[in-house]
Amino acid sequence: MTYNIALLKGDGIGPEIVDGAVKVLEKVGERFNHTFNFTPYLIGGCAIDATGEPLPEETVKGCLASDSVLLGAVGGPKWDTLPGNKRPEKALLGIRSALGLYTNLRPAKLYSSLSAECPLRPDITEKGIDLVMVRELTGGIYFGERGRRDGKYGPEAYDTECYSVVEVERIARVAFETARKRGKKVISIDKANVLESSRLWREVVHEVAKEYPDVEVSDMLVDNAAMQLVKNPSQFDVVVTSNMFGDILSDEASQITGSIGLLPSASLGDTKCGMYEPIHGSAPDIAGQNKANPIATILSAAMMLRYSFDLEEEAKAIEEAVDKVLTAGYRTGDILGTSKETPLTCTEMTEKILEQL
Ligand code: IPM
Ligand code: MG
Repeated sequence: MTYNIALLKGDGIGPEIVDGAVKVLEKVGERFNHTFNFTPYLIGGCAIDATGEPLPEETVKGCLASDSVLLGAVGGPKWDTLPGNKRPEKALLGIRSALGLYTNLRPAKLYSSLSAECPLRPDITEKGIDLVMVRELTGGIYFGERGRRDGKYGPEAYDTECYSVVEVERIARVAFETARKRGKKVISIDKANVLESSRLWREVVHEVAKEYPDVEVSDMLVDNAAMQLVKNPSQFDVVVTSNMFGDILSDEASQITGSIGLLPSASLGDTKCGMYEPIHGSAPDIAGQNKANPIATILSAAMMLRYSFDLEEEAKAIEEAVDKVLTAGYRTGDILGTSKETPLTCTEMTEKILEQL
């Protein structure tokens, strides 16, 4: 089969890690007899520099016409002082919305070979960490009305959290469907003791839950969830939450698996065309130095094979290759821990994974 993939390398370490994932996909193509065509498009800071816009029209068109999108990362200090709607991050929200990608799946799993990298005590992690965060991606405070105005105490700024029944229903369904294929347990995270939008969220989740009597459902307040993730992470199977809570909690979930450099994500909508990206950012401090960990992006490519192309065997081949490389003790700087060994570069880590494929 032939698959057309739009490449959005973006800024900072984006180009390095995407190059690693492209090599891995090419290798998978050779082994399993598929052709992957890659077409690069600009997004984020590099797009601002080249065109004046963080999300050029051509990029949106190219992504819409592709079978799937692989994204590195956007942003950097150079563009940090631009007004909100001209920032590189705006492009990320723009492309998620333009492609209708309302679901963001963020699996967080602690590899046994990396247990020493986990900052939690061994007695806390002995039952393992293996959860999927289902983050709503095109609604909530990220997309609500915002602005500046004159307020009671002078100038003020506001952002609005708003969720419709339809938005909650569809993300809740994704969570229940995901749980059906895993541990059959959904924890919905909100702030229903304070926010009206969370009270609606909770009502709707329980309405949808009636369609899934085989899946256990419960609610957790977001502050408690932040605590439970470090106190008893094994209790989580599938977590469903809003855009902003999911953003925050997924960084926390990544750190307890050793490094944010390991966590992939899939952004999905109602079509097969998804966008796949590491959950980490552009890491300007190490950009261009060949130091980044490519694993999160390589695992994102595996998710692309699984969710957009239904290539389960191929996806597993990548995941197993990563597992073997980590088990063999190969480490990039972010997962080196207290070891005095020289860390692998981004390209060396990619090579190790290619060898296993
Ligand atoms: C993420 C990132 C983005 C987000 C930023 C870069 C806009 O933190 O994908 O988690 O907040 O969604
Ligand atoms: Mg984030």
